Amino acid sequence: MCGRLRSSDAGKKAVIMGWVNKRRDHGSLLFIDLRDRSGVTQVVVNADRNAAIHEKAETLRNEYVIAAIGSVKLRDANTVNPNMPTGEVELVADDIRILNESKLPPFLPSDTALTNEETRLKYRYIDLRRDAMQFNIETRHNVAKAIRDYLSSQGFFEIETPFMTRSTPEGARDYLVPSRVQPGTFYALPQSPQMFKQILMISGFDRYFQIVRCFRDEDLRADRQPEFTQIDLEMSYPQAERVWEVVEGFLKAAFHAAGVEIEPSFPRMDYDEAIRLYGIDKPDLRLPAFTDVRDCFTAENLQELAINGNLPVIAIRTPKVGELSRKERDDIKPMFHSKGGARVYEDFKRIGNKYPDAAAAIAKKTGVEEGDLIVLVAGSAQAGPQTAMPAHRKVTPAELAIYASAGLLRLALAQKYADRHGIFKKTGDAAKDFRFLWVTNFPMFEWDEGEKQWMAAHHPFTSPHEQDMGLLEQGVESVNDPQSTLSAVRALAYDVVLNGTELGSGSIRIHRQDIQAKIFKALGMTDEEARKRFGFFLEALEYGTPPHGGIALGLDRIVMILTGAESLREVIPFPKTARAVDLMVDAPTPVDERQLRDLGISIRKPS
Ligand code: AMO
Repeated sequence: MCGRLRSSDAGKKAVIMGWVNKRRDHGSLLFIDLRDRSGVTQVVVNADRNAAIHEKAETLRNEYVIAAIGSVKLRDANTVNPNMPTGEVELVADDIRILNESKLPPFLPSDTALTNEETRLKYRYIDLRRDAMQFNIETRHNVAKAIRDYLSSQGFFEIETPFMTRSTPEGARDYLVPSRVQPGTFYALPQSPQMFKQILMISGFDRYFQIVRCFRDEDLRADRQPEFTQIDLEMSYPQAERVWEVVEGFLKAAFHAAGVEIEPSFPRMDYDEAIRLYGIDKPDLRLPAFTDVRDCFTAENLQELAINGNLPVIAIRTPKVGELSRKERDDIKPMFHSKGGARVYEDFKRIGNKYPDAAAAIAKKTGVEEGDLIVLVAGSAQAGPQTAMPAHRKVTPAELAIYASAGLLRLALAQKYADRHGIFKKTGDAAKDFRFLWVTNFPMFEWDEGEKQWMAAHHPFTSPHEQDMGLLEQGVESVNDPQSTLSAVRALAYDVVLNGTELGSGSIRIHRQDIQAKIFKALGMTDEEARKRFGFFLEALEYGTPPHGGIALGLDRIVMILTGAESLREVIPFPKTARAVDLMVDAPTPVDERQLRDLGISIRKPS
């Protein structure tokens, strides 16, 4: 391999094959950097030793594939390259064979400046030759292998589940595959193997896993692809903690395989607490939590500031931002998006001038240090009187509006001043700061204002808390009411979060058919509708289903964070663009008339 020769090989004969990374002519001496996935070796062709070979070498261009045959020689001391693992040696060529020529590529793997992403994706095979991409794909392999080995060692079987199946309830749109033999019918590609893995528990395979492709037609972002890979697992008879132990075990192995040591067990936090402290259900623990500073103000202060004293007053502290210019301060307000009734007070200095006691109390409570930025988010007094909330609501919608708006601003500020605080840096110690967290006790249901009905916050097979069964019973009697007790039913659901990204989601499942039926009822489904969509599954539940639970983590996301990549496209060999297009193979495409006819499909002109 081109990257393996060392000083201890000096004097040996060697044959190396790879791509011409660079060619330099120095009169009678010609240097070729020959590259394969293991690295680069310098090949020297000397016209004085072999004129014919030198002549051939002069025809070489970048990305030609060649074999270089010769002997390994120590470099002169003044030409040793300490930056290359092979930098102490070179291969003195006795022969060069051109195995294949190359057209001039639109960009070179050795280019230091990156070309635009469209070109990279169209010529993905050239892009993948780049060191950074080779590293990402190698890391992906190592991570997947470590997980596979770990789970196998814990008694999990890797079992495949179908890709041609029927709709799974993960909440995105399905990719459909038409059936030719049953015209007018469609398979759905799985959004996850959820129902199959539960059926595997009913089938007696009490520990299942799969590193499996899933398909979701949803709006794409940097951390979402239409086809992506899950590390999916399910086990029989677990407490949630047992599932977490397994996940922590395989993550430790996976990170170790990528050269990073992490220490389970991860901290745990209730969903409600995550909302109160971070305004989001996937907190980035590298940044400071909120401080509620309502009690730092007097009632008169609050009145003068037009702040609603019945609601929290959130101080967001962003570390090490330094002195802000007038313009920078003015820029904060447009970054704030109120979720309803929440207002931002971005000029803490001004508050300090007017209310020095309050400012001193806030500084103390938030632990502010020199150069930290403090911004307040509070409920507007003009938002009107609070409607009385049923006792079962722990976080009221008005409070949620403040927490959620503050949560978004906290992240936006951290992003905007990333260069100053360095917490998000992809190099040095910051790059190794991995803060894991389990978020637990999610709400079971979310009210969908558009559809005017309750939706499953995770998926409808998630078990409610034993203690909340009463609230469920009561709630199914008023499924059209956004204030119903359904809002307070907690799920035995959990997410594993890393540095503000949701890595995975799972739950303890419902294993009793009567509870499953209640959940469907709460979701506004009649018995008949539930039978139509999930009949096979409901029936399976009636044949001796063991209690079970599991989780799925995004492999792409794990590798993205481990490699410090900015998007999933950097860690997926052949990804799709934000418009779900594969630019290399040019998919999706129209199909010919005959294919459509065979499938009994006609295309309606888009209106
Ligand atoms: P969920 O839908 O939360 O749960 O997905 C689990 C994990 O899969 C990853 N993920 C994605 N990664 C890239 N692109 C996407 N479009 C995408 N969508 C999801 C995320 C996410 O945390 N069946 C349940 C799991 C269970 O209950 O066991 C499920 O699929 O990292």
